[in-house]
Amino acid sequence: MRGLANKVFVIAGGGSGIGEATAQRLTEEGAAVVIGDLDAGHAHQVAARLAATGARALGMSFDITVEESVLGLIEAAVDTFGGLDGIHVNAADIAGLADDTDAVTVPLPTFDRTLAVNLRGHLLCTRHALPELLKRGGGSLVYTSSGAAFMGEPLRLAYAVSKNGLHGLLRHVASRWGKDGIRANAVAPGLVITDSNRHMMSPEACAAVLGITRSPRLGEPRDIAAMVAFLMSDDGEWINGQVLSVDGGVTMR
Ligand SMILES: NC(=O)c1ccc[n+]([C@@H]2O[C@H](COP(=O)([O-])OP(=O)(O)OC[C@H]3O[C@@H](n4cnc5c(N)ncnc54)[C@H](O)[C@@H]3O)[C@@H](O)[C@H]2O)c1
Repeated sequence: MRGLANKVFVIAGGGSGIGEATAQRLTEEGAAVVIGDLDAGHAHQVAARLAATGARALGMSFDITVEESVLGLIEAAVDTFGGLDGIHVNAADIAGLADDTDAVTVPLPTFDRTLAVNLRGHLLCTRHALPELLKRGGGSLVYTSSGAAFMGEPLRLAYAVSKNGLHGLLRHVASRWGKDGIRANAVAPGLVITDSNRHMMSPEACAAVLGITRSPRLGEPRDIAAMVAFLMSDDGEWINGQVLSVDGGVTMR
C-alpha cells in the first residue's frame, strides 16, 4: 500500500486479536508502531515479537479510560519515533459483554464501564492524537466499530450504544478537521475468530454465524488489519467519515 513506509502509528488496544494483527500488518508495510494495552504483558510481547523481525515497535502499559495514560501513549510515539501519522483506536471492554443485557436489566456499572472504555476512551484518544496529526499536516484515525452497531439485537445494549457513539464521533472529526487533512473512519467487523473468541464461542455459535455469512468462512484478524492499513495509507486518502463493514457480507447496506 502507498504511503505507510516510515510512518508512525499508535494502536490503542493492540495487545491481542485485531489490534495485534494491525500492528503486524503496519510494520510489514514499513511503519513504526506503538502498541498500548491494558494487558501490559501482551503489549510488550507483541512489540518484542515484531521487533525480532527488524520492525520498529514499542509496547506500553495503557488504560484507555485514564487521560494521563492516553497522553502518555501519544507522547511515546512522538518521543520514540518522532511524530504521529495515525491511530487505530481498537480497545473494547469485552469482559463486560457477559452481563450486557437489555434496557431493563443491564447493570448500570456495566453500561457505564462499557461507555467509558468503548466511547469516552476513544474520545480521549481522539483529543490527544489530533494535535500531533495536525502538526504533520494531517493523518488518519481508524476506530473499530462492530456490525452490532447497526444489526439491532435483543442483547448487548451497552456495546451497541457505544459503537454507535463512535460513528457520531468519527463523523464529527471528519467534518471539523477534514479540510486540515484529517480522516476519521471506522471498520465494522463481523465475527472474527481471535484467540479469545476461539475459547469463548461454542462451535454451534460459530456455525450459526457462518450460516448468515455470505462468504464461505468466518473472519480472521488479518481481514480487519488489512482494512485498517488501507484506511491509514495514501490509497485510502479520499475516504472520510465512513463506517466500512468487513464481515463476509453478513450486513449489506
Ligand atoms: N472479534 C470480533 O468478532 C469482533 C467483532 C466486531 C467488533 N470487534 C471489535 O474489535 C476490537 C478488538 O477486539 P478483539 O476481538 O480483537 O478482542 P481482544 O480482546 O483480543 O482485543 C481487545 C483489546 O483491548 C484491550 N483493552 C480492554 N480494555 C482496555 C482498556 N481499558 N485500555 C486499554 N486496552 C484495553 C484488551 O486488553 C485487548 O487486548 C474491539 O473494539 C471489538 O469490539 C471484534
